[in-house]
Amino acid sequence: MTDVLAIEKLHKSYRLGNQVIRALDGVSLSVARGKLAAIMGASGSGKSTLLHMAGGLDLPDSGAVKIEDRELTRMSDRQRTLFRRQRMGIIFQAYNLLPTLTAEENVAVPLLIDGLSSSRIQSRVAEMIRLVHLEHRTGHRPQAMSGGEQQRVAIARALLNDPALILADEPTGNIDSISAVEVWELLRRLAHEMGKTVLMVTHEAAAASYADRVYVLKDGQIVGTIEGMEPGDAALVATRYTELAR
Ligand SMILES: Nc1ncnc2c1ncn2[C@@H]1O[C@H](COP(=O)(O)OP(=O)(O)OP(=O)(O)O)[C@@H](O)[C@H]1O
Ligand SMILES: [Mg+2]
Repeated sequence: MTDVLAIEKLHKSYRLGNQVIRALDGVSLSVARGKLAAIMGASGSGKSTLLHMAGGLDLPDSGAVKIEDRELTRMSDRQRTLFRRQRMGIIFQAYNLLPTLTAEENVAVPLLIDGLSSSRIQSRVAEMIRLVHLEHRTGHRPQAMSGGEQQRVAIARALLNDPALILADEPTGNIDSISAVEVWELLRRLAHEMGKTVLMVTHEAAAASYADRVYVLKDGQIVGTIEGMEPGDAALVATRYTELAR
């Protein structure tokens, strides 16, 4: 099976005064089409740095990031921005919804910017809303939705361009545990039923248990992987994580 995402020997350091912080220290991983992978690690272990590199939001000092066999680090800034818009959907902990717009209108924003006809916009938005199971919330503004519902609006918006790769940084960091399950199940469904490739960053074992494979990150290095758990089996993931990250 071909890998949609392949990260090879990634290094990234930050300089703060005369101190050098090795945020990523030789990270390699790959995620095949239709798979959900999680990156799990403590605060400061390099998770967000890794996700930013995977999305081409920042460039490594060395190493390669290949998405559908296209090498991000060899692209110009413009090419990389365009490629990200066409092939990736990125989801952050903050939903970044516009407070005065309804769920439906928030999803429609990128299509309005692209100048699509209103009938095309309506049908595409309805399709995305159905995908994330929010048919009953189309007219709600963000403040009238739960955190999980707001994040699903953000996910619907990220799916508009039919991305091959979905990147999510702590997508349920602001969400209660019951709503969080809906988001994890959605990300898993996008991979398994729609053939998306998903990379999710988390520090929570419950979140990571929904993944097909968990990469454990410690001090900028992958110290091991966890596989073979059932969704919701947080205890198993937590036990293995503790052994690996010790
Ligand atoms: N722009 C930056 N300048 C300097 N240091 C940075 C920068 N970004 C990240 N770092 C450092 O790199 C290391 C990894 O940071 P990163 O944000 O990737 O961690 P994280 O695993 O996402 O943590 P958290 O769980 O708190 O979000 C940390 O020590 C952090 O302080
Ligand atoms: Mg982070």
